[in-house]
Amino acid sequence: MSEELKQAIKDIVVVGKGILAADESVKTATKRLASLNVESTEETRRQYRNLILTAPGIEKYICGVILFEETLKQKTDSGVLFPEHLAEVGVVPGIKVDQGLEDFNGTQEQYTKGLDGLGDRLEEYKKSGCRFTKWRAVYSISETTPSDTIIKKNAEDLAKYAKICQEHGFVPIVEPEVLIDGTHSIDKCREVTEKVLKAVFDSLKEENVAIDLAILKPSMVISGKQAENRAGVEEVAKRTVEALKKIVPQELPSINFLSGGQSPEEATAHLNAMHKLGEDLPWYVSFSYARALQGPALKAWQGKQENLALGQEAFINRARLNSLATKGEYLGEMEK
Ligand code: 13P
Repeated sequence: MSEELKQAIKDIVVVGKGILAADESVKTATKRLASLNVESTEETRRQYRNLILTAPGIEKYICGVILFEETLKQKTDSGVLFPEHLAEVGVVPGIKVDQGLEDFNGTQEQYTKGLDGLGDRLEEYKKSGCRFTKWRAVYSISETTPSDTIIKKNAEDLAKYAKICQEHGFVPIVEPEVLIDGTHSIDKCREVTEKVLKAVFDSLKEENVAIDLAILKPSMVISGKQAENRAGVEEVAKRTVEALKKIVPQELPSINFLSGGQSPEEATAHLNAMHKLGEDLPWYVSFSYARALQGPALKAWQGKQENLALGQEAFINRARLNSLATKGEYLGEMEK
Protein backbone atom coordinates (compact mmCIF):
# COMPACT_ATOMS: atom_id res chain seq x y z
CA MET A 1 0.00 0.00 0.00
CA SER A 2 2.71 2.43 0.97
CA GLU A 3 4.59 1.75 -2.32
CA GLU A 4 1.43 2.67 -4.21
CA LEU A 5 1.16 5.92 -2.24
CA LYS A 6 4.83 6.74 -2.70
CA GLN A 7 4.56 6.28 -6.45
CA ALA A 8 1.45 8.48 -6.59
CA ILE A 9 3.30 11.23 -4.69
CA LYS A 10 6.17 10.96 -7.17
CA ASP A 11 3.75 11.34 -10.06
CA ILE A 12 1.81 14.33 -8.69
CA VAL A 13 4.64 16.26 -7.05
CA VAL A 14 6.65 17.27 -10.09
CA VAL A 15 8.80 20.38 -10.31
CA GLY A 16 7.32 22.90 -12.76
CA LYS A 17 3.89 21.27 -12.72
CA GLY A 18 0.70 21.54 -10.71
CA ILE A 19 -2.71 20.02 -10.19
CA LEU A 20 -5.86 21.11 -12.02
CA ALA A 21 -9.12 21.06 -10.06
CA ALA A 22 -11.86 20.07 -12.50
CA ASP A 23 -14.12 18.58 -9.86
CA GLU A 24 -17.05 21.00 -9.96
CA SER A 25 -20.18 19.29 -8.68
CA VAL A 26 -23.23 19.29 -10.97
CA LYS A 27 -24.45 22.37 -9.10
CA THR A 28 -21.19 24.29 -9.57
CA ALA A 29 -20.74 23.18 -13.20
CA THR A 30 -24.29 24.42 -13.83
CA LYS A 31 -23.31 27.81 -12.42
CA ARG A 32 -20.21 27.97 -14.65
CA LEU A 33 -22.26 27.06 -17.75
CA ALA A 34 -25.02 29.52 -16.82
CA SER A 35 -22.44 32.32 -16.91
CA LEU A 36 -22.05 31.46 -20.63
CA ASN A 37 -25.82 31.14 -21.13
CA VAL A 38 -25.40 27.42 -21.71
CA GLU A 39 -27.98 25.05 -20.28
CA SER A 40 -26.49 22.43 -17.99
CA THR A 41 -27.14 18.90 -19.23
CA GLU A 42 -25.02 15.80 -18.93
CA GLU A 43 -23.85 16.44 -22.51
CA THR A 44 -22.94 20.12 -22.02
CA ARG A 45 -21.07 19.22 -18.84
CA ARG A 46 -19.20 16.58 -20.84
CA GLN A 47 -18.34 19.18 -23.48
CA TYR A 48 -17.05 21.49 -20.73
CA ARG A 49 -14.82 18.72 -19.36
CA ASN A 50 -13.71 17.82 -22.87
CA LEU A 51 -12.60 21.41 -23.51
CA ILE A 52 -10.27 21.41 -20.53
CA LEU A 53 -9.13 17.80 -20.26
CA THR A 54 -8.25 17.26 -23.92
CA ALA A 55 -6.36 20.54 -24.34
CA PRO A 56 -3.26 19.57 -26.34
CA GLY A 57 -0.11 19.74 -24.22
CA ILE A 58 -1.90 19.71 -20.83
CA GLU A 59 0.73 17.25 -19.57
CA LYS A 60 3.52 19.80 -19.96
CA TYR A 61 2.19 21.84 -17.03
CA ILE A 62 -0.33 19.64 -15.22
CA CYS A 63 0.57 16.35 -13.53
CA GLY A 64 -2.76 15.56 -11.85
CA VAL A 65 -6.43 16.41 -12.31
CA ILE A 66 -9.13 16.24 -9.66
CA LEU A 67 -12.32 14.94 -11.25
CA PHE A 68 -15.97 14.82 -10.19
CA GLU A 69 -17.74 11.45 -10.03
CA GLU A 70 -19.93 12.13 -13.08
CA THR A 71 -16.83 12.73 -15.23
CA LEU A 72 -15.39 9.26 -14.53
CA LYS A 73 -18.02 7.69 -16.79
CA GLN A 74 -17.95 10.36 -19.48
CA LYS A 75 -15.89 10.28 -22.66
CA THR A 76 -13.78 12.65 -24.74
CA ASP A 77 -14.98 13.71 -28.20
CA SER A 78 -12.94 10.76 -29.51
CA GLY A 79 -14.76 8.31 -27.27
CA VAL A 80 -12.15 7.64 -24.59
CA LEU A 81 -13.15 7.68 -20.89
CA PHE A 82 -11.73 10.86 -19.34
CA PRO A 83 -9.61 9.13 -16.68
CA GLU A 84 -8.16 6.82 -19.34
CA HIS A 85 -7.41 9.75 -21.62
CA LEU A 86 -5.58 11.54 -18.80
CA ALA A 87 -3.54 8.47 -17.85
CA GLU A 88 -2.65 7.97 -21.53
CA VAL A 89 -1.14 11.45 -21.79
CA GLY A 90 0.68 11.01 -18.46
CA VAL A 91 -1.61 12.94 -16.13
CA VAL A 92 -2.77 11.24 -12.92
CA PRO A 93 -6.56 11.18 -12.40
CA GLY A 94 -7.84 11.99 -8.91
CA ILE A 95 -11.31 12.33 -7.46
CA LYS A 96 -13.22 14.64 -5.16
CA VAL A 97 -14.73 12.37 -2.53
CA ASP A 98 -16.53 14.77 -0.25
CA GLN A 99 -20.24 15.19 -0.84
CA GLY A 100 -20.53 18.91 -0.35
CA LEU A 101 -21.45 21.22 2.49
CA GLU A 102 -24.26 21.00 5.02
CA ASP A 103 -25.45 23.48 7.66
CA PHE A 104 -23.86 22.72 10.98
CA ASN A 105 -26.34 22.26 13.82
CA GLY A 106 -28.47 25.21 12.76
CA THR A 107 -25.54 27.64 12.96
CA GLN A 108 -24.42 29.83 10.06
CA GLU A 109 -21.43 27.57 9.57
CA GLN A 110 -21.08 24.54 7.36
CA TYR A 111 -19.36 21.19 7.63
CA THR A 112 -18.49 18.74 4.87
CA LYS A 113 -20.42 15.52 4.24
CA GLY A 114 -19.14 12.27 2.78
CA LEU A 115 -17.54 9.97 5.35
CA ASP A 116 -20.39 7.43 5.20
CA GLY A 117 -19.56 4.65 2.77
CA LEU A 118 -16.32 6.35 1.72
CA GLY A 119 -14.29 3.10 1.73
CA ASP A 120 -16.74 1.41 -0.67
CA ARG A 121 -16.77 4.39 -3.01
CA LEU A 122 -12.98 4.41 -3.06
CA GLU A 123 -12.94 0.85 -4.35
CA GLU A 124 -15.12 2.00 -7.27
CA TYR A 125 -12.90 5.02 -7.96
CA LYS A 126 -9.87 2.77 -8.00
CA LYS A 127 -11.44 0.74 -10.82
CA SER A 128 -11.73 4.00 -12.80
CA GLY A 129 -7.99 4.60 -12.39
CA CYS A 130 -8.04 7.33 -9.72
CA ARG A 131 -4.97 7.49 -7.49
CA PHE A 132 -5.55 10.48 -5.26
CA THR A 133 -8.51 12.19 -3.59
CA LYS A 134 -9.70 15.57 -2.38
CA TRP A 135 -11.89 16.71 0.52
CA ARG A 136 -12.73 20.40 1.05
CA ALA A 137 -13.71 22.03 4.33
CA VAL A 138 -14.65 25.72 4.49
CA TYR A 139 -14.31 28.43 7.12
CA SER A 140 -15.89 31.86 6.83
CA ILE A 141 -14.44 34.89 8.56
CA SER A 142 -16.84 37.18 10.42
CA GLU A 143 -17.11 38.71 13.91
CA THR A 144 -18.20 35.34 15.28
CA THR A 145 -16.76 32.79 12.86
CA PRO A 146 -15.04 30.46 12.40
CA SER A 147 -16.06 28.99 15.75
CA ASP A 148 -13.76 26.68 17.71
CA THR A 149 -16.41 24.00 17.26
CA ILE A 150 -16.33 24.05 13.45
CA ILE A 151 -12.52 24.26 13.43
CA LYS A 152 -12.40 21.09 15.52
CA LYS A 153 -15.15 19.26 13.61
CA ASN A 154 -13.60 19.99 10.20
CA ALA A 155 -10.11 19.06 11.38
CA GLU A 156 -11.33 15.72 12.74
CA ASP A 157 -13.28 14.91 9.58
CA LEU A 158 -10.38 15.88 7.31
CA ALA A 159 -8.16 13.54 9.34
CA LYS A 160 -10.66 10.65 9.20
CA TYR A 161 -11.02 11.14 5.46
CA ALA A 162 -7.25 11.21 4.96
CA LYS A 163 -6.76 8.05 7.01
CA ILE A 164 -9.44 6.10 5.12
CA CYS A 165 -7.97 7.19 1.78
CA GLN A 166 -4.44 6.14 2.70
CA GLU A 167 -5.76 2.77 3.90
CA HIS A 168 -7.28 2.28 0.45
CA GLY A 169 -4.13 3.33 -1.41
CA PHE A 170 -5.06 6.92 -2.30
CA VAL A 171 -3.00 10.04 -1.60
CA PRO A 172 -5.34 12.43 0.20
CA ILE A 173 -5.41 16.13 -0.65
CA VAL A 174 -6.47 17.88 2.53
CA GLU A 175 -8.22 21.15 1.70
CA PRO A 176 -9.08 23.57 4.49
CA GLU A 177 -10.34 26.71 2.70
CA VAL A 178 -10.54 29.94 4.64
CA LEU A 179 -12.99 31.84 2.44
CA ILE A 180 -11.94 35.14 0.88
CA ASP A 181 -15.41 36.76 1.20
CA GLY A 182 -15.65 39.61 3.67
CA THR A 183 -14.07 42.87 4.71
CA HIS A 184 -11.47 41.33 7.05
CA SER A 185 -7.82 42.37 7.08
CA ILE A 186 -4.90 40.19 6.04
CA ASP A 187 -3.91 40.02 9.74
CA LYS A 188 -7.25 38.50 10.62
CA CYS A 189 -6.89 36.01 7.75
CA ARG A 190 -3.46 35.03 9.01
CA GLU A 191 -4.73 34.47 12.55
CA VAL A 192 -7.61 32.28 11.33
CA THR A 193 -5.44 30.37 8.83
CA GLU A 194 -2.87 29.49 11.48
CA LYS A 195 -5.55 28.33 13.89
CA VAL A 196 -7.23 26.20 11.23
CA LEU A 197 -3.96 24.65 10.01
CA LYS A 198 -2.83 23.91 13.55
CA ALA A 199 -6.07 22.05 14.27
CA VAL A 200 -5.82 20.14 10.98
CA PHE A 201 -2.23 18.96 11.54
CA ASP A 202 -2.96 18.08 15.20
CA SER A 203 -5.86 15.90 14.04
CA LEU A 204 -3.84 14.30 11.22
CA LYS A 205 -1.21 13.32 13.76
CA GLU A 206 -3.78 11.98 16.19
CA GLU A 207 -5.34 9.89 13.44
CA ASN A 208 -1.89 8.57 12.44
CA VAL A 209 -2.10 9.88 8.91
CA ALA A 210 1.25 9.58 7.09
CA ILE A 211 2.03 13.26 6.49
CA ASP A 212 4.72 12.37 3.95
CA LEU A 213 2.05 10.69 1.82
CA ALA A 214 -0.51 13.51 1.85
CA ILE A 215 -0.86 16.91 0.16
CA LEU A 216 -2.14 20.17 1.64
CA LYS A 217 -4.38 22.41 -0.45
CA PRO A 218 -4.73 25.63 1.51
CA SER A 219 -6.03 29.10 0.79
CA MET A 220 -3.53 31.96 0.80
CA VAL A 221 -3.22 34.49 3.59
CA ILE A 222 -4.97 37.39 1.87
CA SER A 223 -7.20 40.41 2.62
CA GLY A 224 -10.96 39.91 2.41
CA LYS A 225 -12.31 40.45 -1.08
CA GLN A 226 -14.40 43.43 0.05
CA ALA A 227 -11.71 44.89 2.35
CA GLU A 228 -10.43 48.40 1.85
CA ASN A 229 -6.70 48.75 1.15
CA ARG A 230 -6.15 45.11 0.28
CA ALA A 231 -2.60 43.84 0.84
CA GLY A 232 -0.34 43.75 -2.22
CA VAL A 233 1.26 40.77 -3.92
CA GLU A 234 4.51 40.69 -1.91
CA GLU A 235 2.69 40.93 1.37
CA VAL A 236 0.32 38.08 0.53
CA ALA A 237 3.29 35.93 -0.43
CA LYS A 238 5.27 36.81 2.68
CA ARG A 239 2.42 36.29 5.16
CA THR A 240 1.34 33.07 3.52
CA VAL A 241 4.80 31.54 3.64
CA GLU A 242 5.30 32.70 7.24
CA ALA A 243 2.05 31.09 8.38
CA LEU A 244 2.77 27.84 6.56
CA LYS A 245 6.35 27.62 7.86
CA LYS A 246 5.10 28.08 11.39
CA ILE A 247 2.55 25.27 11.26
CA VAL A 248 3.11 22.82 8.40
CA PRO A 249 5.50 19.91 9.10
CA GLN A 250 8.54 19.67 6.86
CA GLU A 251 7.80 16.08 5.90
CA LEU A 252 4.73 17.14 3.94
CA PRO A 253 5.79 16.75 0.30
CA SER A 254 3.70 19.41 -1.37
CA ILE A 255 1.46 22.42 -0.86
CA ASN A 256 -0.90 23.10 -3.77
CA PHE A 257 -2.92 26.28 -3.35
CA LEU A 258 -6.54 26.81 -4.31
CA SER A 259 -7.40 30.08 -6.07
CA GLY A 260 -10.55 30.75 -4.03
CA GLY A 261 -12.00 33.66 -6.01
CA GLN A 262 -8.74 35.44 -6.83
CA SER A 263 -8.47 36.56 -10.45
CA PRO A 264 -6.31 34.29 -12.62
CA GLU A 265 -3.62 36.99 -12.76
CA GLU A 266 -3.59 37.45 -8.98
CA ALA A 267 -3.40 33.73 -8.29
CA THR A 268 -0.41 33.38 -10.61
CA ALA A 269 1.34 36.48 -9.27
CA HIS A 270 0.94 35.38 -5.65
CA LEU A 271 2.37 31.93 -6.30
CA ASN A 272 5.25 33.44 -8.23
CA ALA A 273 5.98 35.92 -5.43
CA MET A 274 6.26 33.09 -2.89
CA HIS A 275 9.07 31.66 -4.96
CA LYS A 276 10.75 35.04 -5.23
CA LEU A 277 10.98 35.64 -1.48
CA GLY A 278 14.39 34.03 -1.46
CA GLU A 279 13.33 31.72 1.37
CA ASP A 280 14.00 28.04 1.63
CA LEU A 281 10.69 26.25 1.27
CA PRO A 282 10.75 22.80 2.87
CA TRP A 283 7.90 21.51 0.67
CA TYR A 284 7.19 21.80 -3.04
CA VAL A 285 4.88 24.81 -3.48
CA SER A 286 2.52 24.77 -6.44
CA PHE A 287 -1.10 25.20 -7.51
CA SER A 288 -4.33 23.24 -7.59
CA TYR A 289 -6.54 25.91 -9.12
CA ALA A 290 -9.97 25.52 -10.64
CA ARG A 291 -11.34 28.95 -11.53
CA ALA A 292 -7.93 30.60 -12.01
CA LEU A 293 -7.02 27.96 -14.63
CA GLN A 294 -10.39 27.42 -16.27
CA GLY A 295 -11.95 30.91 -16.20
CA PRO A 296 -10.28 32.37 -19.31
CA ALA A 297 -10.86 29.11 -21.21
CA LEU A 298 -14.59 29.11 -20.50
CA LYS A 299 -14.82 32.75 -21.57
CA ALA A 300 -13.06 32.06 -24.87
CA TRP A 301 -15.11 28.91 -25.51
CA GLN A 302 -18.61 30.28 -24.81
CA GLY A 303 -20.01 26.77 -25.11
CA LYS A 304 -19.44 26.75 -28.90
CA GLN A 305 -17.73 23.92 -30.71
CA GLU A 306 -16.16 26.37 -33.18
CA ASN A 307 -14.34 28.04 -30.24
CA LEU A 308 -12.87 24.80 -28.89
CA ALA A 309 -9.31 25.52 -30.03
CA LEU A 310 -9.44 29.09 -28.70
CA GLY A 311 -10.69 27.89 -25.31
CA GLN A 312 -8.01 25.21 -25.12
CA GLU A 313 -5.32 27.73 -26.00
CA ALA A 314 -6.52 30.03 -23.20
CA PHE A 315 -6.38 27.13 -20.74
CA ILE A 316 -2.90 26.04 -21.80
CA ASN A 317 -1.69 29.63 -21.58
CA ARG A 318 -2.83 29.90 -17.93
CA ALA A 319 -1.35 26.50 -17.12
CA ARG A 320 1.96 27.58 -18.64
CA LEU A 321 2.03 30.87 -16.70
CA ASN A 322 1.33 29.03 -13.45
CA SER A 323 4.05 26.54 -14.27
CA LEU A 324 6.46 29.49 -14.60
CA ALA A 325 5.17 30.79 -11.26
CA THR A 326 6.14 27.54 -9.51
CA LYS A 327 9.72 28.43 -10.43
CA GLY A 328 9.45 32.17 -9.74
CA GLU A 329 9.88 32.80 -13.47
CA TYR A 330 6.57 34.49 -14.25
CA LEU A 331 7.15 38.00 -15.55
CA GLY A 332 3.55 39.21 -15.39
CA GLU A 333 0.94 39.28 -18.09
CA MET A 334 3.43 40.80 -20.57
CA GLU A 335 4.58 37.19 -20.74
CA LYS A 336 1.79 36.42 -23.23
P1 13P B 1 -10.66 27.35 -6.92
O1 13P B 1 -9.24 27.36 -7.39
O2 13P B 1 -11.64 27.85 -7.94
O3 13P B 1 -10.82 27.96 -5.58
O4 13P B 1 -11.07 25.84 -6.74
C1 13P B 1 -10.24 24.98 -6.10
C2 13P B 1 -11.00 23.87 -5.54
O5 13P B 1 -10.75 22.73 -5.84
C3 13P B 1 -12.08 24.16 -4.60
O6 13P B 1 -12.43 22.99 -3.93
